[in-house]
Amino acid sequence: MPHRITLIPGDGIGPEVTGAVVQILERAGVDIEWEREEAGAAVAEREGKPLPDRVLDSIRRNRVALKGPIGTPVGSGFTSVNVEVRRALDLYANLRPVRSLPGVEARFDGVDVVVVRENTEDLYSGLEHQVVPGVVESLKIITARASERIARFAFGYATRHRRRKVTAVHKANIMKLGDGLFLDSVRAVAGEHPAIEYDERIVDAACMHLVIDPGRFDVLLLPNLYGDIVSDLCAGLVGGLGVVPSANLGDDMAVFEAVHGTAPDIAGRQLANPTALLLSALLMLRYLDEDEQAARILTALERVLAGAETRTPDLGGRATTQEFADAVSRQVDAGR
Ligand code: NAI
Repeated sequence: MPHRITLIPGDGIGPEVTGAVVQILERAGVDIEWEREEAGAAVAEREGKPLPDRVLDSIRRNRVALKGPIGTPVGSGFTSVNVEVRRALDLYANLRPVRSLPGVEARFDGVDVVVVRENTEDLYSGLEHQVVPGVVESLKIITARASERIARFAFGYATRHRRRKVTAVHKANIMKLGDGLFLDSVRAVAGEHPAIEYDERIVDAACMHLVIDPGRFDVLLLPNLYGDIVSDLCAGLVGGLGVVPSANLGDDMAVFEAVHGTAPDIAGRQLANPTALLLSALLMLRYLDEDEQAARILTALERVLAGAETRTPDLGGRATTQEFADAVSRQVDAGR
């Protein structure tokens, strides 16, 4: 039986990088039937909303989606499609494994950190209002249910993947109630997992320690806003947004996407690096128990990244998106 997967190409460089990834997965012989769905700015212009119900229905039916980036207007306009998908499908865990790759120049070698971010609440609940002109209130929602749920995910992930430590990141010294509740919930779950080391860091200090010595961290567990910021910081440790994957996971559904956005400055010019989306697709293959295929494609990708001639311009090379995809496809063939 083929895996039936919703494919959302997205905006900007989305169609270029999804095209490259689909080509590589097909070349590897992974049995996938793609269900293509459009969402984003062009759809909003045509149909009045950027995320038509049929896109969510398709993901609910297939339970797995691979998604390109989708732009969000700043300050006004439609709410983020990315946030909306996560909320509508209750994809409460955002997972970002951040790992150094061969041939990708970065500040550190040997980085291997996993960021687990709560995906549904905190300041991203979208509850904002103007109290009086000149004063706006944005509500930060923290619940025991969501905090405990993400903690269970983090410790479950750490156990399954043989990670040694979980670090909860917070600002409970200032937000004693909200972040305090997050920490209390995490501590209760940590107590059920004595085999995994547990510690806590205040978010500002955690950022400093990450940029000085990322090796001291293993799995990071954060509420939504800190998770958003710290996960990009972690991407910066290994070469940037072009090389880090992510998964949004619920109890029985998952959407895999790159960490980067639509890159309007390079869109449509064959300059985009599909590595981040390809790595996200490899997380997807492991989610579908296609571990062997994932390992084979990873080896092919690492071989291509190790050779300067086939890297894309963001990594100092001169290859186009298509040339990069062709090079990985050839390595996939060679690895058979
Ligand atoms: P961005 O990630 O699109 O671009 C930042 C910089 O990184 C740009 O210079 C871009 O050229 C470069 N870059 C990003 N991805 C690349 C790739 N694969 N290959 C080579 N270079 C790459 O961030 P920006 O400019 O802040 O956001 C643009 C739009 O994307 C916004 O509308 C934003 O809302 C949206 N966005 C969507 C996300 C999603 O769909 N999950 C995530 C982040 C942003």
